[in-house]
Amino acid sequence: MLEDKKILVGVCGGIAAYKTADIVSRLKKKGAQVKVIMTASAREFVTPLTFQTLSQNYVATGLFSSPKNWEVEHISLARWADCVLIAPATANFIGKIWAGIADDLLTTTVMAVKAPVIMAPAMNTNMYSNELVQRNINALKNRGYQFVGPVEGRLACGETGEGKMEEPEKIVAFIHSTLNRDKDFDGRTVMITAGPTREALDPVRFLTNASSGRMGYSLAKAAAGRGARVVLISGPTQLEPPSGVELVRVESALEMYMAVMEYYPQCDVVLKAAAVSDYRPARKSGEKIKKSDDRLILEMERNPDILLELGKYKGNCILVGFAAESHNVEEYAREKIRKKNLDLIVANDITLEGAGFNTDTNVAAIIDSEGKAEYLPMMSKSELAHIILDKVAVLLKRQF
Ligand SMILES: Cc1cc2nc3c(=O)[nH]c(=O)nc-3n(C[C@H](O)[C@H](O)[C@H](O)COP(=O)(O)O)c2cc1C
Repeated sequence: MLEDKKILVGVCGGIAAYKTADIVSRLKKKGAQVKVIMTASAREFVTPLTFQTLSQNYVATGLFSSPKNWEVEHISLARWADCVLIAPATANFIGKIWAGIADDLLTTTVMAVKAPVIMAPAMNTNMYSNELVQRNINALKNRGYQFVGPVEGRLACGETGEGKMEEPEKIVAFIHSTLNRDKDFDGRTVMITAGPTREALDPVRFLTNASSGRMGYSLAKAAAGRGARVVLISGPTQLEPPSGVELVRVESALEMYMAVMEYYPQCDVVLKAAAVSDYRPARKSGEKIKKSDDRLILEMERNPDILLELGKYKGNCILVGFAAESHNVEEYAREKIRKKNLDLIVANDITLEGAGFNTDTNVAAIIDSEGKAEYLPMMSKSELAHIILDKVAVLLKRQF
């Protein structure tokens, strides 16, 4: 429910502004309090009277118009909101926020907001695919702004393609899930593994991989924010651990295996985002290996397969694996989910731009135990973390 949630709706100047009236009406029916800010261009499309009547609140329009109380209006609106929806979000508005421009009431208010900001873009398909617009959207996603839509369809300009504002019903559902994420992991223990492992060759050398740990740390931050007790088992990374998580530092795959097994019985959910080395040198030299011959042959032995072990003793625990592959991604992921008895797998093709190890973004598909795959667009690792947790929350609810 959205009972008594305070939702600030920003309306920009696009044809889809008429559909925002329906969004406001739906939000009111769900018990939300709604205030509306309209840009000058938005008022060319729909009148403030429409939104005033539907929201049962005055509509704010000008940065310098007389405020309705003695507070500074953009600051008081920014403080008031539990969530901000911008619908339609024009190319112009998105660009201004990206650039940090605050030259009217809506942009200034959004700049001052601490609550989640959701944008529902709507524009001509060529505008939407314009590199500048895409750059702005991706940069805002990385900063934590959320986007819903656009979708494909017949646009007001007569063209067909991507750029149509998402349907009001779906936008309201998106707001609902954003606001009700609040503490949905209260009382749950979530174990997350993150980062690479290091497999020692001698006292100063080791074998490792390029994992930065960002996906695991984003999951830890998101789960802690949603009320979970988080145990973060991390290989060596440069990252600051999120506040409130129990951090267990490990180096090698064997150490990670032992730490995971120790905490496993306490866990409701395990998210295995670490890039664990499959092999380790069969012998670790006690002394620094000296160069002697032209060739050095290393003998490697298998590390334990942590996920496979967890899958054997799964019980009620929700198990989520990650598959970073460079080819046949979906095929490997489906095989892994079956073989390791997982509930979900997050698969990504590390060869794609914006995906994989050392980026702030990811391009992933989430596959469930029935083999259904959902392909997600490029998004920040923090946004992806929340989507993964949304799916886990649904699985946890099903257990009752
Ligand atoms: C008929 C008409 C329809 C428009 N539709 C859109 C649209 O759907 N999306 C968009 O980004 N801009 C659209 N524009 C352009 C915006 O109105 C323009 O960029 C304006 O500066 C946006 O101001 P705002 O972002 O402050 O509301 C449209 C303009 C006109 C005249």
